Amino acid sequence: MLKAGSTSQSLNIPKIRADFPILKRQVHGKRLVYLDNAATTQKPKQVIDSITDYYSNYNANIHRSVHTLAEEATEAFEATRQKVKQFVGAGSVEEIVFTRNATEALNVAANCVTSGLRPSDKIVVTEMEHHSNFVQWQQISKRMGFNLEIVSVTDEGEIDGSDLEAKLVGAKALAFTHMSNVLGTINDAKSITRKAHDAGAVVVVDGAQSTPHIPVNVNEIGCDYFAFSAHKMLGPTGVGCVYGKRELLLNAPPFVYGGDMIKEVHRQETKWNDLPWKFEAGTSNIAGVIGFGAAIDYLEKVGLENVEKHEHEICAAALDELNKFDGMEIYGPRDPARRGAVIAFNFGKIHAHDVASILDQEGVAIRSGHHCSQILMEKLEVPATSRASFYLYNDYDDLEALTRALHKVKEVLG
Ligand code: ALA
Repeated sequence: MLKAGSTSQSLNIPKIRADFPILKRQVHGKRLVYLDNAATTQKPKQVIDSITDYYSNYNANIHRSVHTLAEEATEAFEATRQKVKQFVGAGSVEEIVFTRNATEALNVAANCVTSGLRPSDKIVVTEMEHHSNFVQWQQISKRMGFNLEIVSVTDEGEIDGSDLEAKLVGAKALAFTHMSNVLGTINDAKSITRKAHDAGAVVVVDGAQSTPHIPVNVNEIGCDYFAFSAHKMLGPTGVGCVYGKRELLLNAPPFVYGGDMIKEVHRQETKWNDLPWKFEAGTSNIAGVIGFGAAIDYLEKVGLENVEKHEHEICAAALDELNKFDGMEIYGPRDPARRGAVIAFNFGKIHAHDVASILDQEGVAIRSGHHCSQILMEKLEVPATSRASFYLYNDYDDLEALTRALHKVKEVLG
């Protein structure tokens, strides 16, 4: 039942909202209702201030000079690595590699994995992958002669377990998403990883949508690589991260070559830097990484368990509300316990972009389109969907604004 004005059982949302300057703005004269969190999240003032502080007070390059500013910048940058390590339960900071985004993180992982494969080796992905965890596997497979197989998704929006088991036979690598950016499905990463390992496959997990919303522990999952990005978890854009098991990273080739990733360069030979810097060529997004550290501090203070609980509550309420509309098709698991608060839908024959445009006029920001998941759209037999995605600052008033705006869509186009 819709509970506009009611409070979250798990989070102090008015207090959280006060930290996000952008949530005070209006769009088309209406209160901004930001429900496009699967695309990117808003930033609390703590994150914005940490970036301003770096540029105002200790802007310098890292890992190179010995002057005070450089040392302060290096210390703050590496402090984030420590925070990330703890946040995802990695064994050591050597296993935490910063990248530009989750896409690049997944490309680093694919480069590591495929460097050890031979032509006709089998790589398995699923139909619910974002393009960031699909296109590189497809292209490397074409180039190197690997055999790429794609596991089906069921009508309920889950990975088809028997198809997965069949395709894992003889597979050398499995790449799958922890949480679908369209269906909201939360995959049992631990059990899938175990099955893949039993079959002898290396496992790469796309954690871009899960890490911001549910507690993640890579050690417990047992995967070999795990990728995510800062901007989907209150941090700045331009920063991603790949966790990789130490032994695997040690034995894999670098992804990008240049400064900072080397120990010694001679005319004929180069020695790589220690982990994780071997994978971090060139000047990093220093301000972004420092901002990422502030985002992690923020999330830890709120508590990921509380974020998860709140999102389950609001997801269940949103599914109830959306299901009341005639002609509403909602994708992904019906059981809110099986999914995150990412809800893709189509409203009768109305095009997803038209839904999103009318919602925007009402101040409600959602995404429409293929969500960088065209294999899944093909499976769902739709060109596009609308998608509302919630986060820790979304309350029941936001859900009410969404349903009110959808009534408007029905009025105008229905
Ligand atoms: N990966 C982001 C999304 O699904 C951009 O919207």
